[in-house]
Amino acid sequence: MKKRILSGVQPTGALHLGNYIGALRQWVDLQHETDAYFCIVDYHAITVKQDTQELYDNIHSLAAMYVAVGLDPSKVTLFKQSDVSAHTELAWILNNFTHMGELQRMTQYKDKAKGNGKQTVGLFTYPVLMAADILLYQPHMVPVGEDQKQHVELTRNIAQRFNNRFSETFRVPDVMHPKDGARIMSLDDPNTKMSKTGSSQWGYIALSDAPDVVMKKIKKAVTDSGSTIEASADKPALTNLLVIYSAVSGKTVGELEELYHGQGYGKFKKELGEAIVTWLEPIQERYHELIQNYDELQAILKQGQERASVVAQVTLDDVKTKIGVI
Ligand code: AMP
Ligand code: TRP
Repeated sequence: MKKRILSGVQPTGALHLGNYIGALRQWVDLQHETDAYFCIVDYHAITVKQDTQELYDNIHSLAAMYVAVGLDPSKVTLFKQSDVSAHTELAWILNNFTHMGELQRMTQYKDKAKGNGKQTVGLFTYPVLMAADILLYQPHMVPVGEDQKQHVELTRNIAQRFNNRFSETFRVPDVMHPKDGARIMSLDDPNTKMSKTGSSQWGYIALSDAPDVVMKKIKKAVTDSGSTIEASADKPALTNLLVIYSAVSGKTVGELEELYHGQGYGKFKKELGEAIVTWLEPIQERYHELIQNYDELQAILKQGQERASVVAQVTLDDVKTKIGVI
C-alpha cells in the first residue's frame, strides 16, 4: 500500500523559492509513489488580517501555482481547507487535548505575536488547527520546511495523548524535510529565513517574479567576504545561493562549486539569475494559462473537496464516537 502524505501552504501572497525548495519540490517528487493530499490552508491565513478580495484571489493563484509547479490534480488531492468542515470540527475537539503551555512555547506564535499588542485567539490556537488538518488524513509523513517542525511535533503529542486516553485513533505522523534547502535564507540577510513578510522585497524571489526582477534581486543579494564560491558554515550567504542554484539547475552543490572554482561573484550571480529565469519560464507559462481558466481551477478544487471529505469524515466520526457525542 502507498504511504500517505499531507501538507499545506497558506494563501497569503505569491509562493517563493523558500516554499518551493523547502516544501513543494518534495511534494512534486513524491506524488507518484504516495497517496498525497495538498491543502490550501485558507483558515490559517485569516489568523492575520486579510483583505477580502486579496484572500479570494490568493486562494486561486495558489491553486494555479500548485499545478504549475508540477502537481498533477488527477493523481493528488488538491483542496481548500475551508471546503472540508471536518478541519474546524476536529480542531475544536483537539483544543481540549492541548495545553496552554504547549501553545505558548510555539516559536512561530511568539514571533508573530511580538510587538503586536492585541493578539487573537485564532493566532494562538493555529497549531491545533494544523494538527487537525494533518490527523484527519492519517498520513505517514508531513513534508514541510524546517520552520514547521515544532508544529508537527505538537501534532504528534496531541495524537498520542488522544490515542492513550481512548484507543488507537490517529496515526502519529513523521515530519519530513528535504536533504538540502529545508531552510532557505533571505537574499538580503542570510540570518533570517526567506519569507514574503520579511524585511524587504529584496529578500525573496516569488515564483511569479518577472525575469528582470529576478536578475535584479540576485544581483543585489548579499555575499560573504572572500572570493571563493563554496558552501560552508562560515559562508551562509553563498551556501544559500548554491542550494538555490542546485534546486533550479539539477546540478549538485559540489558540481557547482567545481564549475565556479576560481571564478568571480559577478559571473556566478549572473548565471544563477539566468538559471532561475529559465527554470521559472515554463512554470509561469502554465500558471498564466491556468489563472485565466477559472472554471478548470474550480473543478480541480471541487474534485479535491469530494475526495478529501470522504477520508476526513471517517476519522472525524471515529473521534466523535470515542468522545461520546455520537
Ligand atoms: P507558508 O508560506 O508559511 O505557508 O509555508 C509553506 C511551506 O513552505 C511550509 O512547509 C514551510 O515550512 C515552507 N517554507 C516557508 N518558508 C521557507 C523557507 N524560507 N525555507 C524552506 N521552507 C520554507
Ligand atoms: N502552518 C503551515 C505553514 O505556515 C501551513 C499548514 C497548515 C500546514 N496546516 C498544515 C502544513 C498541515 C502541513 C500540514 O507553513
